[in-house]
Amino acid sequence: MKKIEDTTIIPHSLVKIFFDEKWKQSVDEKEESVYKYTNPGIQFLMDFLQKKLHKSSSEFKALDLGAGDGRFSVLLAKNNLEVTAVDFSEFALERISQRAKIAGVESKIKLIKDSVLDFSPPDNYDVIIACNVLHYFNSSQLKKILDLMKEHTLEKGVNLISFESNIKMFLPDGREFKFANQPDFDIVYLNKFLKDVYKDSKWKVLYENQIPVSITPYLPPSISSFLKTEYDYYLRDFVLYDLIFQKVL
Ligand SMILES: C[S@@+](CC[C@H](N)C(=O)[O-])C[C@H]1O[C@@H](n2cnc3c(N)ncnc32)[C@H](O)[C@@H]1O
Repeated sequence: MKKIEDTTIIPHSLVKIFFDEKWKQSVDEKEESVYKYTNPGIQFLMDFLQKKLHKSSSEFKALDLGAGDGRFSVLLAKNNLEVTAVDFSEFALERISQRAKIAGVESKIKLIKDSVLDFSPPDNYDVIIACNVLHYFNSSQLKKILDLMKEHTLEKGVNLISFESNIKMFLPDGREFKFANQPDFDIVYLNKFLKDVYKDSKWKVLYENQIPVSITPYLPPSISSFLKTEYDYYLRDFVLYDLIFQKVL
């Protein structure tokens, strides 16, 4: 049985540096996303948008919080939505811009460099997504972000929350690490937390799904030097918990 002090804690201040370095690393010329897995909630969302909403998709407005290299922003834009992508890493936004150009949807994506915590949305949206990002915040920050998402959702609009829970990060030599700010959101706690925030007669659960994910992402230099290791990848296991809420009134 491992003792808790065996887990190395990475200071939260390294999160932005971690992502800047991650998004700066070179990619192939097709500019594919670095992510080799997808979030099942996105597929459900795309089907839902095509079938259920009453407007034509070019009138839909979407907000992508913590958009990363833009795999979902570009997908939404390719499906004709007007997308606003927010990320605090300028290198992420550069990636989105390159990928949008390649996909021919540059004019459909507005890029905003800001922290999700300070951001105040300039508009209301049919679709707001926060994928693989909310685990960087503690409970009160998370509640603040979710309240903002709820408030800026148009009638009949949806929020997709794609949450990494039960996260385990470790080096190939077995040493574990985690980011200081990252709460240990386990799936049971998270289920209750998210449903409590949306426990409101205006909102209903449209979709819910969990899948286990195991990946070996790039370990940027700042983190490998902090961990005093030569590895440039690490092992990451988590349960991807997707929930879609719809504003019904
Ligand atoms: C794991 S990536 C996920 C990217 C994308 N949503 C996806 O699923 O492909 C997390 C992204 O959130 C961004 N991020 C983390 N904390 C943030 C914050 N406080 N404000 C804005 N962006 C943040 C990172 O820069 C990174 O691009």
